[in-house]
Amino acid sequence: MKTVTILGATGSVGTSTLDLIEREPDRFSVRALTANCDVERLAAAARRTRAELAVVADESCLPALREALRGTDTNVAGGVLAVCDAARSGADLTVGAIVGCAGLQPVMAAVEQGGTVVIANKEPLVSAGELVVDAARRFGATLLPADSEHNAIFQCFDRAQAKHVRRIILTASGGPFRDWSLERMRDVTPQQAVAHPNWTMGAKISVDSATLMNKGLELIEAHYLFFLPSEQIDILIHPQSVIHSLVEFVDGSMLAQLASPDMRIPIAYALAWPERMATPAQRLDLASIARFDFEAPDLQRFPALRLAREALEAGGAAPIVLNAANEVGVASFLAGRIGFADIAAIVERALDESDFGAPTSIAEVLEVDRMTRVRVESAMQAVCQ
Ligand SMILES: NC(=O)c1ccc[n+]([C@@H]2O[C@H](COP(=O)([O-])OP(=O)(O)OC[C@H]3O[C@@H](n4cnc5c(N)ncnc54)[C@H](OP(=O)(O)O)[C@@H]3O)[C@@H](O)[C@H]2O)c1
Repeated sequence: MKTVTILGATGSVGTSTLDLIEREPDRFSVRALTANCDVERLAAAARRTRAELAVVADESCLPALREALRGTDTNVAGGVLAVCDAARSGADLTVGAIVGCAGLQPVMAAVEQGGTVVIANKEPLVSAGELVVDAARRFGATLLPADSEHNAIFQCFDRAQAKHVRRIILTASGGPFRDWSLERMRDVTPQQAVAHPNWTMGAKISVDSATLMNKGLELIEAHYLFFLPSEQIDILIHPQSVIHSLVEFVDGSMLAQLASPDMRIPIAYALAWPERMATPAQRLDLASIARFDFEAPDLQRFPALRLAREALEAGGAAPIVLNAANEVGVASFLAGRIGFADIAAIVERALDESDFGAPTSIAEVLEVDRMTRVRVESAMQAVCQ
């Protein structure tokens, strides 16, 4: 029996994780579940799984959570520190499924207790990859990737053979605007941007997929998870989202992982690792898929991917600035304050104006993140006035 804590249990990844572990009650039990403020969904999941602890990051939601779980054995708590306490609650597996850099402190808390941390929440690795990976080494924590591309690489990449890897190739669907002109993309609405052709996901990652910033964040994530430099990580557009990524070896062989686009498959791999577990995901019918298409990404129409690679290669605080500016940009686009193309423009400007030194602690990472958000917000207000 493995005990599991899910950080971000009410989101898309959190819900898929719950779906898997609730199918195997003899194999998994729930230690703690967290959310930001979705009390209804959190309380329902805590009741179903008999979770020991349920936590809302937004403390103002705690009275409602307490009320919703009255009469159960589930303890409740509220606030960011309580989410970090949940992350270090001693579970065998902690699933990082919070969206954004808000997951950084909880992920670090989980890593510092030395267990196994399943990483879906990519932004903490983008902003503080070196610190997270270094802490994992020092505290003996195991990081398992749940992001479908990194999970695919993890399944193909024999670490004992690392020196024989020539490059890894992260595939990208290309998002809903893959073949749209720049002109046409100017009028994109939030509803259009969150309607991903292949995956059902939270709003922020859906917009990131539409701008290709998601692939840029994944490029940086892969750099830290697989210890590879930028030039050994390629991006390939593959609209069917069936080949989730590939590893090329020095002899010219390529290994790939294929599956239907259902996050339960990579999450199940991480939950059951080093074994495997059954999932209800649709099986691939290759004869009916019939063909796979590939193309190189277009960095003119999707500048976010170029910016992410530049930030990775610049190092220091650049990835933090990239991520923080993008989070503000995406939230502003979803709120109808800016246009779709403005997201990458905001990120580029923030990177150009960044004068931060390389951070040496999580506190410094959080300060660069905070300062970038303040700068981006005030620059946006000046333009919108
Ligand atoms: N969705 C996918 O298929 C997928 C695939 C690969 C990687 N990922 C990555 O996984 C992460 C989660 O994505 P998602 O699509 O599952 O997001 P989502 O559906 O928006 O869910 C986000 C979760 O984080 C919680 N949360 C939001 N803000 C928070 C805060 N400030 N403090 C604490 N918790 C907070 C939310 O709680 P409330 O519900 O209360 O707001 C919710 O439980 C992202 O980093 C994403 O890039 C997602």
